[in-house]
Amino acid sequence: GGQPIPKPIKDTSLKLVNDKKHPWKPLRAGDQRGPCPGLNALASHGWLPRSGVATPGEIVTAVQNGYNMEWTRAVLVTYAAFLVNGNPLTNLLSIGESRGMSWLTGHAPPPPALASGLNTHGTFEGDASLTRSDAFLGDNHSFNETLFQQLIDISNKVGGGKYNVSAAAEMRFQRVQDSIARNPNFNFANPRFNTAFIEAVFPIVFFIDGRLQEAGETGLDLDVMRGFFQDHRMPKDFHRRGTPTGASDSELDFVMAAHDYVPGFNNGSVNSFVADPNFMGTQTETVCALYEKFVNSTVSLYPSPHGDLRKALNKNLDNFYVAVESRCDQIKPYH
Ligand code: HEM
Ligand code: MG
Repeated sequence: GGQPIPKPIKDTSLKLVNDKKHPWKPLRAGDQRGPCPGLNALASHGWLPRSGVATPGEIVTAVQNGYNMEWTRAVLVTYAAFLVNGNPLTNLLSIGESRGMSWLTGHAPPPPALASGLNTHGTFEGDASLTRSDAFLGDNHSFNETLFQQLIDISNKVGGGKYNVSAAAEMRFQRVQDSIARNPNFNFANPRFNTAFIEAVFPIVFFIDGRLQEAGETGLDLDVMRGFFQDHRMPKDFHRRGTPTGASDSELDFVMAAHDYVPGFNNGSVNSFVADPNFMGTQTETVCALYEKFVNSTVSLYPSPHGDLRKALNKNLDNFYVAVESRCDQIKPYH
């Protein structure tokens, strides 16, 4: 139960990743894709299994290889998702799937466990996504052309025709305003309050060709963006960035500071947004609050695990903690 985390990759240079060994291929019947354009493209280029069903170790390695995502951040996001959406008994996660379809990753632990992939609303996947609808309003995982047109308009107005930090800031804000106005169940509390900003910056950090980044480019071409978001496709000749990183603080700060944001939710009706008084839990640092939130979600999905299941959960919780060990106290719910 549970496997060790693969070591960081050694070669972190700028290099061609849409190469001969990793051609884009169209979906076959049954292949899973979901709300994350980063993972979708890795699967459609064979950096992840093309089925869209992978182990957490494969995901940690693939996001480093494909985009040069820094190892610690890769571990943080991957194990957060794996704990709430993966199957600890088979060590498999679907990057799509959804509630009620959990056979793809093998026999699932008993309810309230879900083990039902990244499409599952309300654990990791959340509201006010850039190019996907809120679950309450429609399809929470497929590319939405109306939203992408809105992103194009904003990028033309404030990004000089590209998706840059200014466009990210405006799109993030409009998506939140739209959810407050139309989704009575809108949830913008931790962890979504954190992931929503990180994901708004990811396209700028990871989808701009590494050679362009080194030449000073700070905006993402909108056709390239559509390729990733709609077709799970890297542009021809795509080179990953030349340094390992995550969402940079300067870009995140810019997007967050551009408008007033409060973590919270609508109270069952539209335009009823209230702040979440328990945003930080018992923590003082944001990343530790996020860590605590995912540990608590894991406990509500697995209230009293035994045997192999307990062993696997403990291993995955330990793996998750590795990403924050220098900053947060470990929470050990099953010890
Ligand atoms: C969104 C998972 C890495 C780019 C998401 C969502 C999930 C997810 C569950 C849906 C959240 C939502 O919008 O409601 C993961 C996991 C990763 C990972 C488990 C493992 C490391 C990456 C990487 C990139 C990326 C490396 C970029 C190269 C994005 C973007 C979105 C997103 C841009 C927002 C899509 C939108 O709002 O329309 N991811 N992700 N992700 N992810 Fe990932
Ligand atoms: Mg979403």
